[in-house]
Amino acid sequence: MFTLDRVVPWGRSFDEYRRMFGLPDKDLALRIIGCGDGPASFNAEATRRGYQVVSCDPIYQFDNTQIEERIAATYEHVLEQTRRNAHDFVWGNGIRTVKELGAVRMAAMRTFLADYDAGKRAGRYVDAALPALPFEDGAFDLALCSHFPFLYSTQLGEAFHRAALHEMCRIATEVRVFPLLALESHRSPFVETCAADLVGFGREVAIERVPYAFQRGGNEMMRVRCRSAS
Ligand SMILES: C[S@@+](CC[C@H](N)C(=O)[O-])C[C@H]1O[C@@H](n2cnc3c(N)ncnc32)[C@H](O)[C@@H]1O
Repeated sequence: MFTLDRVVPWGRSFDEYRRMFGLPDKDLALRIIGCGDGPASFNAEATRRGYQVVSCDPIYQFDNTQIEERIAATYEHVLEQTRRNAHDFVWGNGIRTVKELGAVRMAAMRTFLADYDAGKRAGRYVDAALPALPFEDGAFDLALCSHFPFLYSTQLGEAFHRAALHEMCRIATEVRVFPLLALESHRSPFVETCAADLVGFGREVAIERVPYAFQRGGNEMMRVRCRSAS
């Protein structure tokens, strides 16, 4: 069962999503699903700019106050962990210190919380978990998945990764996943095995460098072309 006490809510901004996934304006105009968006402000900020984004995450079974309380309960711990492992991260480019990191993440999560109730009513925040999503085949042009598969390689295992990638390919024309590093900052062992599995099912897989890195060495995303764009 998915419980809030196991989640460390940590959300990135629209600008970070743009860079993590190499998203030009033309891609932002696509029908986008963010898988595992959690308390990121991507959906809120994209909606404000007139784009169509749906986010799904099991954290959306909880209400605004519950998520806010969980953010408050875990925030200092995440920053302390980052402080202890500061050498694993790239400092600069808008995030020069742990204090700045906290401010940037908290600003994104506040933007998410301010949008959450209205977005849930509008169907933009859907309580759903990989690897089984409640969307029609091909419902989206682009599925984005940030800091979930590959990052939690030890916790999720290979079978989950394969199933999650196939599920995102079922609902979207193209899938992008970032980063390809596991939490321990080495490349996930599942990048190659999942890529081979997807190719075996007729998908096109590319590993591409993107203009974003916060984990040291984490500047690559996986792009999967699941089917020809119609
Ligand atoms: C590290 S956070 C990343 C949040 C956001 N994508 C970002 O980059 O800022 C990982 C997210 O994965 C979500 N998650 C956990 N299990 C999931 C599942 N089975 N399917 C989809 N999302 C899941 C968590 O609730 C959490 O919000």
